[in-house]
Amino acid sequence: MRIVVTGGAGFIGSHLVDRLIKEGHAVQVIDNLYTGNKDFVNPKAEFVELDIRSSELYSTLELFKPDYIFHQAAQTEVTTSMNNPMLDCDINLMGLINLLNVSVKLDIKKFLMPSSAAVYGNLTTLPLDETMTGNPSSFYGLTKLTAEHYLRIYHESYGLQYICYRYSNVFGPRQGNGGEGGVISIFSKAISQDDSIVIYGDGEQTRDFIYIDDVVEANILGMQSQFNGIYNVSTNIPSSINLLVDEFRSISHKNIDVVYEKPRLGDIRDSVLATEKSERDLLFRAKCNLHDGLVKTYTYFNK
Ligand SMILES: NC(=O)c1ccc[n+]([C@@H]2O[C@H](COP(=O)([O-])OP(=O)(O)OC[C@H]3O[C@@H](n4cnc5c(N)ncnc54)[C@H](O)[C@@H]3O)[C@@H](O)[C@H]2O)c1
Repeated sequence: MRIVVTGGAGFIGSHLVDRLIKEGHAVQVIDNLYTGNKDFVNPKAEFVELDIRSSELYSTLELFKPDYIFHQAAQTEVTTSMNNPMLDCDINLMGLINLLNVSVKLDIKKFLMPSSAAVYGNLTTLPLDETMTGNPSSFYGLTKLTAEHYLRIYHESYGLQYICYRYSNVFGPRQGNGGEGGVISIFSKAISQDDSIVIYGDGEQTRDFIYIDDVVEANILGMQSQFNGIYNVSTNIPSSINLLVDEFRSISHKNIDVVYEKPRLGDIRDSVLATEKSERDLLFRAKCNLHDGLVKTYTYFNK
């Protein structure tokens, strides 16, 4: 198949490109290197340095003739979205609409992109399932929620086949500090440099951490499935930040110095996402446990 991956120089996109290349697909990466790294792009992929908002997007993709588009490019930082809502909206919505229009014109087979657990806002009924949406507490969450509706309406109005994933907290090699789920990469880097780590709150808050290879697998299954709609991609297992520190102590054999600071405004206490729908429709089940994922991630950052 011929596949375009936007954001293919970023954390999640670059792992997805590696897997698609491994499976024998022809891959074109569209990325403006806003947070991405060209060194992460698989040399067997065609790399085009381009902004998803560009008017050249149509002619570029028309030449490549994609069957599928995985749209991973985004402004991913909650703080940036709060400081510059216009930029967040421009990349995450105007960029998306540009790509959706191109997808319809080129009559692609399927459009796959991530939304985020941020769309659940401060809902406290756990686990969070795909029928629920809360009031996002950031503009990033709001543009992701709006993106879900753009996909639905492009599907209903123009027949665009799509899957929109609500990823929980993804982690693994190549992850930057800024975007979502960055706590594990931040801790890995600090611990490998013998720095202390900072926990906001008492550390008993929980998150649903999922390893990158599992997220890539969910994308592959979504591409092959006949289904459309929204799917959580998670483990359904809550892990506290204090548990992460315990794991890091045993993996690194280091005495990690932890500084506890006041909880940050807007941080939610617990987040765990239901997996029934993706298990039933996509036959997706996360395989990598937290410990094994942390070993691989720490080893990467400790190089
Ligand atoms: N990492 C997580 O835990 C997580 C959780 C939920 C959702 N997501 C979503 O997954 C996707 C990938 O996130 P990531 O963690 O890999 O982030 P990332 O910052 O590593 O990757 C984003 C990529 O998009 C590129 N990009 C940004 N703006 C662009 C533009 N205007 N034109 C072209 N390229 C552009 C960047 O250069 C980068 O390579 C994003 O949509 C993000 O919102 C991530």
